[in-house]
Amino acid sequence: MGEARDDKGRRPLPPLVARPDTQVLMRGFDPRLSVGSARPAVFRSSTYVFSSPEAAERAFAVALGKVEADPDEDVELIYSRLSHPNAEILEDQMVPLETGASSAAVFNTGMAAISSAILTWCKPGSQLIYTVPVYGGTHMLLYELMRDFGIQPIPVPAGDLDAMASAIAEAGDLRMVLIETPANPTLRMTDIAHAAARARERSDPPLVAVDNTFLGPVFQHPLTLGADLCIYSATKYLAGFSDMLGGVVTARDPELTRHLRATRSMLGNILQPDECWLLDSRLATVSLRMNKQSKNAQRIVEALRGHKNAHRIHHPLFFEEPEQQRIYAAQCDYPGAIFSVDLKGGKPMAFEFLRRLRITKNAVSLGGMESLACHPATTTHSEMNEQQLAEAGVTPGLVRISVGIEDWRDLAREYADALNAL
Ligand SMILES: Cc1ncc(COP(=O)(O)O)c(C=O)c1O
Repeated sequence: MGEARDDKGRRPLPPLVARPDTQVLMRGFDPRLSVGSARPAVFRSSTYVFSSPEAAERAFAVALGKVEADPDEDVELIYSRLSHPNAEILEDQMVPLETGASSAAVFNTGMAAISSAILTWCKPGSQLIYTVPVYGGTHMLLYELMRDFGIQPIPVPAGDLDAMASAIAEAGDLRMVLIETPANPTLRMTDIAHAAARARERSDPPLVAVDNTFLGPVFQHPLTLGADLCIYSATKYLAGFSDMLGGVVTARDPELTRHLRATRSMLGNILQPDECWLLDSRLATVSLRMNKQSKNAQRIVEALRGHKNAHRIHHPLFFEEPEQQRIYAAQCDYPGAIFSVDLKGGKPMAFEFLRRLRITKNAVSLGGMESLACHPATTTHSEMNEQQLAEAGVTPGLVRISVGIEDWRDLAREYADALNAL
């Protein structure tokens, strides 16, 4: 048998095997569609010219779900609220970054991603389980908006296996289990695989959605643990420079993404072309940035450990409960770059600590290359009442720090000085 050759006598190339950090630079973008440019053009157009009325009819039939596109069919674009080239490029690039994902949908904020997912699958009379603590904005969405639409939120303490199992077993029309892990701002973790397995035991399994903003897509892979959807505030690590807002949902099943995009078309919350372009240039460095930030944070918390003016430091490497340690070891590759310090002396000391920072900025948000610190009880989680704050472990002395890419020794010095001065 002779060696295989193509019609020009050349040996065929071996199949290309590429890892996520390589694939993110290879996928989604065809330079021929951007006049040969090495970076995608920004297609700011709001509407697209059809090649024929038949092509327009076909594009609408596919968009409305009346017919399936053929696998290799090039369905024409319609109107940018539905989709546009920069969203398609970005969505294709997200897929290799998220282990286990088949598809992605981009939104104009993380809250748009979360609310669109809920509105796609929950209806009046539905129940939704969520883990506590949860980001304050998500808490507000569930109680100030979704509850009025007849969607009942059911809180479950993060990391409580029995409470999660019985909540899933006992709920009525349970449509979604929304897990934020690690939780904002205490970093308590929830076992994703356990919740997904319990969800599948129901005759009408709810979707399991994980807010993966704190550790994903680099250090935690919920879709490989049985979750159906992974949700991001792309504003944070994905964008990485505190200069844009965005949201992403990745899914194991492309059918789920199709439904989500239909909701997005109706709500009109797709990410704009310029922002998609900006975000897709950031994806290639997300693992570089997160690795550096996580190492920085680890060195800093080790340097601050046991400080006399702090009750405790919340960081995955300092988990005291065996169950929290087990979950961390089972589902996270590295601890990430957020930690919270619970200061002795409550709110006055927390405020004084923040006033003493010069490198770290007193701002909400996280995941940017610059370090940020905030007081969750009076900012990100301030819509919660005292009981809810206490249940969530958001104490008056808690300060949350998002570690950036600065030299960790400067940050460790700054936090030690601020702690010493209290
Ligand atoms: C865990 C988490 N999820 C969602 C959000 C909301 O994201 P966005 O501000 O992009 O809407 C945030 C914002 O801080 C967050 O921390």
